[in-house]
Amino acid sequence: MINIAIIGFGIVGSASYDVTIQNAGLIEKRVGDSIKVKKIVDIREFDDHPAPELLTKNFEDVMNDPTISIVIESIGGLNPAYKFTKAALMGGKSVVTSNKELVAVHGKELTEIAKQNKVSYLFEASVGGGIPIIRPLKQCLAANEITEIYGILNGTTNYILTKMREEGRPFADVLKDAQEKGYAELNPAADIEGHDACWKISILSWVAFGKSVEIENISRKGIDDVTAEDIKKAKAGGGVIKLIGRAKLLDGEVQCTVAPEVIPLSDPLAIVDGVFNAIVVRGNFVGETMFYGQGAGGRATSSAVMSDVIEIARNIVASRK
Ligand code: HSE
Repeated sequence: MINIAIIGFGIVGSASYDVTIQNAGLIEKRVGDSIKVKKIVDIREFDDHPAPELLTKNFEDVMNDPTISIVIESIGGLNPAYKFTKAALMGGKSVVTSNKELVAVHGKELTEIAKQNKVSYLFEASVGGGIPIIRPLKQCLAANEITEIYGILNGTTNYILTKMREEGRPFADVLKDAQEKGYAELNPAADIEGHDACWKISILSWVAFGKSVEIENISRKGIDDVTAEDIKKAKAGGGVIKLIGRAKLLDGEVQCTVAPEVIPLSDPLAIVDGVFNAIVVRGNFVGETMFYGQGAGGRATSSAVMSDVIEIARNIVASRK
């Protein structure tokens, strides 16, 4: 049995727990051993928790359990996620995360710490929710020189822009609607000002080009001043407005931008609507590839989180032989 812990039992953490229960049999077959959640760390009180016996408020309970070999960090934000991740890696536990901000800011350092401690730090879920993109870049496209990577990296803003276009409503009105539906956060600045897309394009350029671009060096423009008029104009000209994250290799340097762009209807990105994301990768042998799927939400994101858990679990099983 491979024991894991989940720290942060929000949308992604709880959905990851659900996968381990619902798909336990098929995961066991694919890994060659069972994966069991042994502890769940969260400082909140839960009235209705699926596994109250696993709950603890104290991260040290994970650190003090030598049978736990993999930690899912689904707290989000920099702190205490950074501190806990570092401690887990240094304590010989692999860490899997959906935390794009942490990966964008400290991913390189945490990967180095993981290597030094002969464990893994994996982050498939940090970009594109359930869309496979980090592993395809690292493995399936590894023979290529990647020349450009771009796409719709934020589900909330794509939902807002889609509704503004389809229903001709103003930004503030649709944002309120997105908040009520639980898509946008109550403080949606990270989404609408483009910070979230900056974290994601920074991670993609690190993985694709081997060069990380500091967040402050990414030219960033959100969707907060896109008007219904702008959307109408784009429509009249045969296009749609999308918030695009873009990273390009120019004379050996990586240039990253996040900005609303008018996308012609002939471009496959133009039909990516609602909370869906799509990422285009150009490689010097493969040509153009596109990855599409649900960019946000617990179930889709937990699929990516668990793919990393399964990769590490398979390595653990292989190392026993
Ligand atoms: N707030 C993010 C989005 C969640 O809307 O895309 C997934 O990273």
